[in-house]
Amino acid sequence: GAAELGPYRHYMQKEIFEQPRVIGDTLEGVTGIMPELFGENARAVFKDIDRVLILACGTSYYAGLTAKYWIECIAKLPVNVEIASEYRYRDSVPHPNTLVVTITQSGETADTLAALKHARSLGMPHTLTICNVSTSAMVRECELAYITRAGIEVGVASTKAFTTQLAALFLLTLTLAQVNGRLSADQEAAHLKQMRHLPLAISAVLALEPQVIAWAEEFARKENALFLGRGMHYPIALEGALKLKEISYIHAEAYPAGELKHGPLALVTEEMPVVTIAPNDALLEKLKSNMQEVRARGGQLYVFADVDSRITSGEGLHVIRLPEHYGDLSPILHVVALQLLAYHTALARGTDVDKPRNLAKSVTVE
Ligand code: G6P
Repeated sequence: GAAELGPYRHYMQKEIFEQPRVIGDTLEGVTGIMPELFGENARAVFKDIDRVLILACGTSYYAGLTAKYWIECIAKLPVNVEIASEYRYRDSVPHPNTLVVTITQSGETADTLAALKHARSLGMPHTLTICNVSTSAMVRECELAYITRAGIEVGVASTKAFTTQLAALFLLTLTLAQVNGRLSADQEAAHLKQMRHLPLAISAVLALEPQVIAWAEEFARKENALFLGRGMHYPIALEGALKLKEISYIHAEAYPAGELKHGPLALVTEEMPVVTIAPNDALLEKLKSNMQEVRARGGQLYVFADVDSRITSGEGLHVIRLPEHYGDLSPILHVVALQLLAYHTALARGTDVDKPRNLAKSVTVE
C-alpha cells in the first residue's frame, strides 16, 4: 500500500533505493574471509574443488556471468556459467571436483532446481546456493548456502536481489581465493574495506537520479536501444538491456563493445541510443575507439563514465559521471545507474512498472 511505499512511486524505485542498506545487511558480520560463512562443511568442500559451474536464470544468470570474471581473475579457478533451462537438457561433460553454484532470488525457480539435480545426477556432489529465501527448496537441496539479505522483493524486475547476489558472489570469490592460496592478508583487508564502503558508494550513484531522469525522457521516445560494455561490465550491459525491455517494452540488446563491428553496427542510426558503460579500467582506450565507430555513424552515445574516465560530452555524446572508480566492485555501482535509467524510462512511458505484462516474479513451472 501507499504507506509502505513511503516517498516512492513504485516498489521498484523503493527497492533500488534500499540497495545501500540491504548490501550492508548482506555483508553484516563479515569481519574476515572464512569458508564457514558458507556453511559448516565449506572449508573441506572448497579444498576439494578445482572448478566452478554456475547455474541460474534471468537476472540471476547475469550475476553468475559477472562472478565468472571475478573468480577467474582473483581465485584463478575456471568457471562455467550456464542458463539452467539449457544445461538441464544438454549433454555436458561433468567433472567430479566441481563446485556447483546456483544463484536464485526465490530459491524456487523450476529450471534452476532441475539443473541442480541434473548436475548432481552427473556425479557432482558439491553444491552451494546464493539465495534470498532461507526457507526455500533450493536452500534445502544444497549442501552449502549464503543467504542474501535483500528482504522481500516485490517488483518483478529484480534490482536489490541482483546487487546483493553480486556482493555475496564477491565474498565467495575472496573465499575461494583464500583457500586457493591467492589472497594475502593485505589483499583481504583492502577488499573488506572496499566492501564495507559499498553502501556509501551506491548512495552516491543514487544521487545521480536527476541526471538519469533527463536521459530517460529522451529514451521514452525510442523503440530500440543498444547497451555496450566490456570485460566484467559486459554482463552489466546485458542486465541493463534486460531491465529496459522488461519494464519499458523498448527493444534492447547488449553487446561486448568489441563485437560491434561484427553485426550491431549495421543498426546504428540517429534513432539508436547506445548506452555505454565506461569505467576507467584497462579497456577504456579500446572502448573509446568502439564509441568512435558509433559516433561516426550518427549514433547517440549515452555514456556512464567514471569520475576520472576523461570522456567529455559533445555532439552525439552524453556523459554521466559516476562519483568514484571502484575497481573490482565497479559492476555493482554501474548497474544501479542502469536500473534508474530503465525505471525512469518506463515511468515516462506509463507502463505498469512493478508488474510488467507477461512476466512473473518467480517461475515455478517449466
Ligand atoms: C523471473 C523473474 C526475474 C528473475 C528470474 C530468476 O524471470 O522475473 O527477475 O531473475 O525469474 O528468478 P530467481 O528467483 O531464480 O532468481
